Amino acid sequence: MHERLKSRVAAAAVAVGLLGPLTARAQGAWEAPAVEKERENPVPPGADVVARGRQIAQLNCVACHGAAGKGDGAAAAALNPKPADWTSPAVQSESDGEIFWKISTGRGAMPSWKHLPETERWAIVHYLRSLKAK
Ligand code: HEC
Repeated sequence: MHERLKSRVAAAAVAVGLLGPLTARAQGAWEAPAVEKERENPVPPGADVVARGRQIAQLNCVACHGAAGKGDGAAAAALNPKPADWTSPAVQSESDGEIFWKISTGRGAMPSWKHLPETERWAIVHYLRSLKAK
């Protein structure tokens, strides 16, 4: 019993030592490299592409970002930092290239979506733009 407790304490110390710095790093400002920010959306805008982006987002993103993209999905309560509110000025003020890069790269709890074809990721960017508060 005593030995088990000791090893648990040791395991906890290791976890804090390893995860502490990782979490801290994941909470700083998240910025795309300049060259990524400058990339323009190669997919022409339009109602079709917004609908396609919405469909992909409904499939993959609602659990965290919520049905309306407000960052209030069912899994959001357990996450820190919180999933981004796509309708917010913070997200809407970013360039298409930056949003595309973040979707592609991911960070912490935010998965990388590199496995989705590029055109689908750019379609999601169009959809996110359509959510800008009016
Ligand atoms: C498992 C939960 C989860 C899923 C699923 C998820 N996200 Fe996220 N997302 C996050 C979290 C958490 C953050 C904040 C990350 C940070 O700031 O370190 C985030 C951040 C973002 C950002 C960055 C916003 C900004 O400007 O900083 C974008 C864009 C985004 N997500 C888009 C998506 C898209 C599109 C999908 C689906 C294809 C998706 N996310 C799926 C959790 C998730």
